Amino acid sequence: MNIKTEIVKINPLAIDLDAIARAGQLLKKGGLVAFPTETVYGLGADATNPQASQKIYQAKGRPSDNPLIVHIANRAALDGIVANIPPQADLLAEKFWPGPLTMIFQKNESIPYETTGGMDTVAVRMPSDPIALALIEASNGYIAAPSANTSGRPSPTRTEHVVQDLDGKIDMIVDGGAVGIGLESTIVDLTEEIPVILRPGYITLEMLQEVLGEVRMDPGLIEADSLQKPKAPGMKYRHYAPKADLKVVEGPLSAVTKEINNRCEILIKQGKQVGIIATEETKAQYEYGTVICIGARDDEDAIARHLYGSLREFDELGVDAIFSESFASAGIGQAVMNRLLKAAGHQVLEVKDVE
Ligand code: TXA
Ligand code: MG
Repeated sequence: MNIKTEIVKINPLAIDLDAIARAGQLLKKGGLVAFPTETVYGLGADATNPQASQKIYQAKGRPSDNPLIVHIANRAALDGIVANIPPQADLLAEKFWPGPLTMIFQKNESIPYETTGGMDTVAVRMPSDPIALALIEASNGYIAAPSANTSGRPSPTRTEHVVQDLDGKIDMIVDGGAVGIGLESTIVDLTEEIPVILRPGYITLEMLQEVLGEVRMDPGLIEADSLQKPKAPGMKYRHYAPKADLKVVEGPLSAVTKEINNRCEILIKQGKQVGIIATEETKAQYEYGTVICIGARDDEDAIARHLYGSLREFDELGVDAIFSESFASAGIGQAVMNRLLKAAGHQVLEVKDVE
């Protein structure tokens, strides 16, 4: 399958409504349109059209049991696709919508099983990106959109990433520039007695607890070697992964940089190419390989925003091995470490203080 993918640049501060209307028409006709959201780029299709949803799975090479998130532009649209709305949903919507929070509900018959990967529940999110909202309004109001990457690769945070993975496979890419957050939305399951986080994101456990009281983390997410299967089907796949072997090095910073230098020296002597995910504080201390600085260590937002892009850059360079520093796990750091450890297949090197 090779179709012409049109790329349409749109300024989020002065949205070209004609272009958006055209993209909306494509979606209404069952086409595929990638578009920016505040978290990552999404690959959109009409969520109420089973054939359109199926095309998403084909374009991404996504396993058919992995359900899609339905994107809406206003709170009223929620009533059209879910069987019931628990009171917690309105509390969360009030506080976090539009924004990087996805909630899971019992679905009604408007959403086909092709969209939910065969599940009776549906994930719903109202994004805050103005281009995304305009596009949803120009469509029939329900856009199914996973991240706009080939299944298994890091999610796209800029249009170039979408082009790398999906050029020739989808009808249109709406180019709205780089995204703001850089990691996918928090997913909270409201079909359980106690709400459960199925995927950590910018909206943290603490933020949800402040609104709802008791909230749990899906036990399948917490431990690398957990026997518990994660409840979000997508979290069980190796995911967000670069092509190279990625290892995370954890411990006191001086020991981390020393360990990475030692390992890189050995690999380079063997003729291998290496990449290092570094920070402002450490970037000057690395002696080998290609160093990408993703932000200052206390700037978690910058680290989140640049993580996937750095993994893709190393893919482009064709490095054999990547070493990453480990990051603080408070706030969005929890989502950063969740994605980084998954990308690394949980390969962690613990190092001790150097004298
Ligand atoms: O930030 C985001 O959420 C982005 C942007 C485009 O909105 N979308 C995104 O979609 O990350 P995707 O398909 O890459 O990830 C959706 C995750 C998968 O892990 C999937 O298994 C889970 O949500 N999910 C979707 N529907 C579900 C359901 N009914 N029950 C449990 N998990 C569900
Ligand atoms: Mg994804």
